[in-house]
This record gives sequence, structure tokens and C-alpha cells, in this order.
Amino acid sequence: MTATENKMLLPVSFYALYILSMCLGFLCVVFVCLWSGTWRGGFAWDGSFLQFNWHPVLMVTSLVVLYGNAVLLYRVPFTWSRWWCKVAHAGLLLVAIMLSLVGLSAAFDFHSANNIPHLYSLHSWTGISTVTLFIFQWCVGLGAFLLPWSPMTFRAFLKPIHAWMGMAIFVLSLISSLSGINQKLLLTLNGRNGSNTEPYTALPTEAVFANSLGVLVLIFGFVVLKIILNQEWKNPEFEQESNRPLLADAR
Ligand code: HEM
Repeated sequence: MTATENKMLLPVSFYALYILSMCLGFLCVVFVCLWSGTWRGGFAWDGSFLQFNWHPVLMVTSLVVLYGNAVLLYRVPFTWSRWWCKVAHAGLLLVAIMLSLVGLSAAFDFHSANNIPHLYSLHSWTGISTVTLFIFQWCVGLGAFLLPWSPMTFRAFLKPIHAWMGMAIFVLSLISSLSGINQKLLLTLNGRNGSNTEPYTALPTEAVFANSLGVLVLIFGFVVLKIILNQEWKNPEFEQESNRPLLADAR
């Protein structure tokens, strides 16, 4: 069966939620850029707070928005084959990995340049676990599902584990993003160190804006999970694994 013949008819509710997820993802990126760019002074790569500002932008863009979209690719009824869908999924996730590594080095460099200890907070623990599991999952997925020599029985065994791990990592990304936003607000809006900002407890405009970013991230995550967990929206062809040679599926 070709991919075109297999094109699924999905209900309006699917498209409504999918468009909503695209809008929410876009808003998450706009909000995090505006927060870092406007209230936190912009961007640089010099070990200062301005270097740190890349961290939230790159982490939300890669591990929340790009990751969510890479997962949703399997539900969107494009007229492409399963093989191309897998390649797009792996490619988008590879871009997400690279951006997240740059985002992590922004935070690590900033800590080193300012003699701040590494990996002390709950946020940094969940964050480093997210990225480590993500890279591990990507490598195993590449070896098992894209390279031609992995046996069919192994693919079939791994598939539910891969899907479960993928969702767990996405949930971890949401948790890391929310805890990061909270950590940043508590550290920055403390009314100390000669900072000319109002304290977090006074709920200044920056806090309202950053809290709203957290809410947007959360709603985006719930919409993605709602789409992914709906059994009726799964593409039946994508549910079966095949051990055909690498390029045989690429029609
Ligand atoms: C999935 C997303 C995220 C991951 C995986 C992540 C990961 C990390 C890691 C591993 C560190 C430790 C760096 C070090 O110890 O040198 C860190 C630090 C930090 N991150 Fe994130 N982060 C994420 C999102 C965010 C967001 C959205 C913010 C919001 C501003 C943020 C704010 C912070 C802050 C303030 C620190 C320094 C204080 C601390 O170590 O907790 N993070 N992050």
C-alpha cells in the first residue's frame, strides 16, 4: 500500500487540536524570547546574564516546542511514507538535541564564569536527566528503527518502550521548563542585590508575563499529549514495523 492510498481521514476535532498546538507552540517561543529579550536585557555570549538568557529560549524551543512537533508528526496525515516520517521525526529531534546542548552550555558557562556551583537545584537535576534520557532515547531509536540491520522482533519489542519513554521525556521537559521559570523568577525578582525590580510576591508585570509563559508551556504539553494518546487518531500503517531495507520504504 502506498502512502497516498493509506492517507487517513481524521475528524475536525483532530485538526482543531493540531492547529491549537501549532499556535500554542509559536506563542511559547514568542513569550520566552520576549521575556529574555525585553525584561532580562537581551542576548550575548560573554559569560554574563545575557549569555544565560539563551538558556530558557533554547530549552523551551528545543525540548518543548520542537520535541512536541516531532512527536505529532506521526499523527498528521501527510502523504509521505512511514520511512520519510521516521526520517523527519529523527531529523527534527536531532535539531532539538543540538539546540538543547547549546542552551545547556549557556547555563553551564554562566555558572562557571560567575563561580556559581553546578547542578545544585532540583531544576538542574530534572533538566540534566531530561537531556541525558533524550540523547540516549534518540541513539537507541536510530539504531533500532532507522538502520536496516535491526531485527523485526527487536523493533516490535522496543516500540512500546520507545513510545512510553518518549512521552516520559516530554513530561520531564515540561517539568524542567516550569521549574526553570520558577527558579529564575525566585532568583531574579528578589528585591535584593541592588536590583531595581519589585519582588516576586508583589507580582510585577515581568512575573505575570513569565507565569503566563509557564501556563502556555503546560497547555501546549496537554494538547500534544491529548493528540498522542487518542488511539483513534493513530495511523494504522505506522503502527506496524517492517524490516525492509533502509530505502525500500522511502516512496
Ligand atoms: C527542558 C528545559 C530545561 C532544561 C533541560 C534545563 C536544564 C538546566 C540545567 C541542567 C541547569 C544546570 C546548569 C548548571 O548547573 O551549571 C539549569 C540551570 C538553570 N536553568 Fe534550566 N533548563 C530548562 C529550562 C529552563 C527554563 C525555561 C528556565 C527559565 C528561565 C530555566 C532556568 C534556569 C536557571 C535560573 C538555572 C540556574 C539555576 C539552577 O541551576 O537551577 N531553565 N537548567
